[in-house]
Amino acid sequence: MSAKIKSVLWAAPPHTLAKISILQAYLSRWFEILGRSKFRQNLWYIDGFAGPGEYTNSPSGSPVAAINSASAALQSLGTEWKAGKIHCVSIEQDAKRFDHLKNKLGTANVSPQIETHFFNLSFVDGLSALKNQTPNPFSPASPLFAFIDPFGAKGIPFAVIKELLSRDAVEVLINFDSDGIGRIFKAGVDANHEAILNEIFGDESWKAELGKHRPSHELYRGVLDLYKQKLRALPNVRYVFAFEMRSVKNTIDYHLVFASQHYLGLEKMKEAMKTIDKSGEFSFSDAHLNQSKMFRFDDPTEYSAQLFDQFRGRTVKYLELRDYALNESPFINPKEMLKDLERKGMIQVNSCDPKRRKGTFNEEKLIGITFQQGI
Ligand SMILES: C[S@@+](CC[C@H](N)C(=O)[O-])C[C@H]1O[C@@H](n2cnc3c(N)ncnc32)[C@H](O)[C@@H]1O
Repeated sequence: MSAKIKSVLWAAPPHTLAKISILQAYLSRWFEILGRSKFRQNLWYIDGFAGPGEYTNSPSGSPVAAINSASAALQSLGTEWKAGKIHCVSIEQDAKRFDHLKNKLGTANVSPQIETHFFNLSFVDGLSALKNQTPNPFSPASPLFAFIDPFGAKGIPFAVIKELLSRDAVEVLINFDSDGIGRIFKAGVDANHEAILNEIFGDESWKAELGKHRPSHELYRGVLDLYKQKLRALPNVRYVFAFEMRSVKNTIDYHLVFASQHYLGLEKMKEAMKTIDKSGEFSFSDAHLNQSKMFRFDDPTEYSAQLFDQFRGRTVKYLELRDYALNESPFINPKEMLKDLERKGMIQVNSCDPKRRKGTFNEEKLIGITFQQGI
């Protein structure tokens, strides 16, 4: 549906507004944390598919939400702000939407510590142009968050994502159209699938992976799994998670895929999701939230069984379990799952705290956790 939008402005459906709220909530934390810690370093936000900056039913598109977060962080930290400037880059291919955005931000009252940069180009060409200007986030390498939010499946070559993530302190949030990519795969040559999928995945691995006997309604999951695998295989990327967005008919609309090099990034992103979706569901649905059963924050049992299977028969350090919880469960740490497993007698906890109470897991004091073999 979104691919057909031709007007400069359009009405944002609820899941679009949810997406922007998540972005704003996350960026507020990102600017605050880095603003306190990255002494004299500039912080960069890149909006790769920036849009017109507003909707007919909302004053804040993503570039505006990012600037709001940046302004709020500067204001709340005051003299505790240790980083340098904040640079907000907007890349938008459509000339009319670009002009609309530039006018809107041009008249906004923005702190002199925030510098804006505009490129009326495609995401790929905009990044190249950014690289060739001074200042830019690549030399010297600066902390960078990129929001990559196309209409549909095209315009985000894996090679470009890979290059971005090869640098230190880079995070990306991608609106990934798993469903649309599945449709391109199914349409085959009629949709020029080979060229498009090679570009999205960066190689031909999709041929074997998506060709596996998956019922067609599950294809989007295969698409998503493969994309996550490709991101996780990048040398710098240790944390990858996909948040599911559902449309009015409760079909999968797209996934927000987050990739980071630092555990705190994924921790804060999950917290941002949680603040938006008050119902305790992890995915978003415009229709019946309680029908989307993919993730729950409040029920560790399903995930504790998976955690157990993963580590069965091994003694593991807490950090390995934390990373597993971040990447493979909706939780920000493994504690609720470990509590469940300890209650069921499935793990033994070795702690240097002789007074440790069952079901409590102080990571400073934990020596190792042994998962039983034979349960
Ligand atoms: C989903 S909208 C972006 C919405 C915006 N990120 C927000 O949250 O408010 C996608 C935008 O990307 C623009 N666009 C389409 N192809 C592009 C490309 N290859 N590079 C950059 N922008 C593109 C479209 O004109 C449209 O404004």
